[in-house]
Amino acid sequence: MPSRRHFIQGSTALLTLAAAPWLPSLAFADPSMLLKRAIPSSGELLPVIGLGTSRTFNVSLSEDSLKPLDAVMRTFINGGARLIDTAPSYGAAEAVTGALLKRTNTQGKAFLASKISATGRERGMAQVEASLRALQTDTLDLVQVHNLQDTRTQLALLRELKARGLVRYIGITHYLESAHDDLLDALAKEPVDFVQLNYSVGERNAEKRLLPYCADHGIATLINRPFQRGQLLNRVKGQPLPSWAMETDATTWAQLLLKFILANPAATVVIPATSNPRYMADNLKAGIGRLPDAALRQKIVAAFS
Ligand SMILES: NC(=O)c1ccc[n+]([C@@H]2O[C@H](COP(=O)([O-])OP(=O)(O)OC[C@H]3O[C@@H](n4cnc5c(N)ncnc54)[C@H](OP(=O)(O)O)[C@@H]3O)[C@@H](O)[C@H]2O)c1
Repeated sequence: MPSRRHFIQGSTALLTLAAAPWLPSLAFADPSMLLKRAIPSSGELLPVIGLGTSRTFNVSLSEDSLKPLDAVMRTFINGGARLIDTAPSYGAAEAVTGALLKRTNTQGKAFLASKISATGRERGMAQVEASLRALQTDTLDLVQVHNLQDTRTQLALLRELKARGLVRYIGITHYLESAHDDLLDALAKEPVDFVQLNYSVGERNAEKRLLPYCADHGIATLINRPFQRGQLLNRVKGQPLPSWAMETDATTWAQLLLKFILANPAATVVIPATSNPRYMADNLKAGIGRLPDAALRQKIVAAFS
């Protein structure tokens, strides 16, 4: 566990660098301070802050478009984070992720999670091959069945690819609370390493059954939509952070929202998306220091309602 002194030193350094407009890509704290959690099926440790790529990484491969995202990627990897979540259906996001990892020379450092959103085995396989090309890699760390599309067929394919060493972990995803029961039904039938689901201060249904099920059955979780696409942050825009936020070591509203999620031990990695290197540095800080206890979590919920 990092000491309180280390946390203060690290977070001050992070804040100072993040505030320096000429150094956004170098804005990172001591990467060893970032909290890690284990993938239950293997014991492999993952840093708890990941990176989503939906919309934010769907840009052209031109220098002008890649430059700001280059700083996001450097901040992310230099800050000790690893897991990047992308998908064939996110437009150019896979190709942009591959290009950014190449130009920042960080290819071996990322944990690459993509998805299959296809019906039928052949189309599923074609998507995985296209993902490998776009991400410029020979293997994928995680491939997830996107929004439970053709789950049985695609998980059978993914199990084969896992046995062949092309894919290291397999999973399923959804982004709606109305699909949590369907995720639970799929989990009861099909063994997977990961489930990706929506959970945030504004969408707490996963606390009831899905997250406890994952904890009880040794399934890692990726938490999507932590800011409900930014809507949660709009609710508190311009409002000062309450003084009790200090008790969680949070210095921004975004960190409070991410820490609320990470306070649930069943959350393995949270995957906020951003195109802004300062937001990336901000989000990384949520993985450092104290997490809110039950009383503080209630205060966070009240602050956003
Ligand atoms: N079915 C699925 O499998 C599924 C569905 C939904 C999402 N996902 C995954 O989950 C990821 C995250 O979800 P999401 O992209 O819908 O939304 P989100 O992460 O909840 O919100 C993203 C928005 O938050 C803003 N933001 C990020 N960090 C911030 C900070 N520190 N301060 C202020 N604003 C901040 C970003 O602004 P900027 O754009 O200005 O940076 C962006 O507009 C996706 O990218 C995707 O990888 C998967």
